[in-house]
Amino acid sequence: MLTIGNISIDSPLVLAPMAGISDLPYRLINREYGCGFAFTEMICARSLVYESSKTLDMLASEDKDRPLGVQLLGGDPDTMKRALDILLPYSFDIIDLNAACPVKKVISKGRGAELLRDPVKLQMLLKVIVDHIDVPVTVKIRSGWDEESVNASEIARRAEDAGVSAIFIHGRTRVQGYSGTVDYRIIKEVKDAVKIPVIASGDGLTPVLIKKMFDETGCDGVAVARGALGNPWIFREACAYLNNETAPARPDVHEVVSIMKEHLKLSVACNGERRGIIRFRKFFPWYTKGMAVKELKTMVFKTGTLDSMMQLINAVKYVMDTGDISNMREIPVKFNQLPG
Ligand SMILES: Cc1cc2nc3c(=O)[nH]c(=O)nc-3n(C[C@H](O)[C@H](O)[C@H](O)COP(=O)(O)O)c2cc1C
Repeated sequence: MLTIGNISIDSPLVLAPMAGISDLPYRLINREYGCGFAFTEMICARSLVYESSKTLDMLASEDKDRPLGVQLLGGDPDTMKRALDILLPYSFDIIDLNAACPVKKVISKGRGAELLRDPVKLQMLLKVIVDHIDVPVTVKIRSGWDEESVNASEIARRAEDAGVSAIFIHGRTRVQGYSGTVDYRIIKEVKDAVKIPVIASGDGLTPVLIKKMFDETGCDGVAVARGALGNPWIFREACAYLNNETAPARPDVHEVVSIMKEHLKLSVACNGERRGIIRFRKFFPWYTKGMAVKELKTMVFKTGTLDSMMQLINAVKYVMDTGDISNMREIPVKFNQLPG
């Protein structure tokens, strides 16, 4: 159980925000396996203010997709307030400010991890957000800008003073990006520095590493990002591992295929056929990681209809059951002959 402000979350395992990935279908699939809380994709406050249709689409949610946080990207207090006003009718459970994004295009505009370089400005921005809305506010930070300026504990204390309800921390510096290993020590320092919950992120790729994060840092929750790509099962497996329960069986190809189909159908239902297929494509190689279906993976990016993508997914089961890839080359014609 994890509590952020007045929001109770059933599991301390949450789905970390991932731009281009954490859409409604992806969140629903992960929730089925025990993820207790999720974020929308990162939303640019300025694009929201301009009511860009692409940005508004990212706010799609439904009852089963709760509790849900929206993560905002921005550095300007006025824009942020206008964005929050637009979000009001959507009744999100938590508003998170991104002070972690390492991308150059974002940094150059004074947003994301750039905010770590000016802790006072970040504190003021957080205070503006906290004062403007009634829902709990959180902040996602990194350990610091670079190795010489690791300041996560100071930032966390300032965020707490500003009225923030929880800290999400990715234990790498901005300069590290996603390279190197996560710094457990700095996450523990942050945990010791504040009274509000600390949710740790970084290298939670397996149940063992997730438990290691809890053990080494004393964090209140772990946010799983890359470990959940094509692998929603990580939530039920980590949950069992944390509770000293018997490890659930790894999903067999039938379970994987069944979830792939469910994910695809949700993606098409949420986005329409064309966009739904495009959004689903990148998940295909993740779901089939480690399976000897290389030929199929290369076909995914040429597959443009729901029917043909379904057949491609059926072909995964067929190839894995029979080991036969001989008739895969002329897909999609031959797909129609494959057993459902
Ligand atoms: C493709 C991708 C997109 C990401 N997008 C975001 C984002 O929009 N907001 C954010 O706070 N973190 C984002 N992250 C960082 C993750 O939330 C997480 O902190 C980081 O990947 C470390 O966790 P992991 O080792 O479990 O992947 C992203 C990471 C990846 C790999």
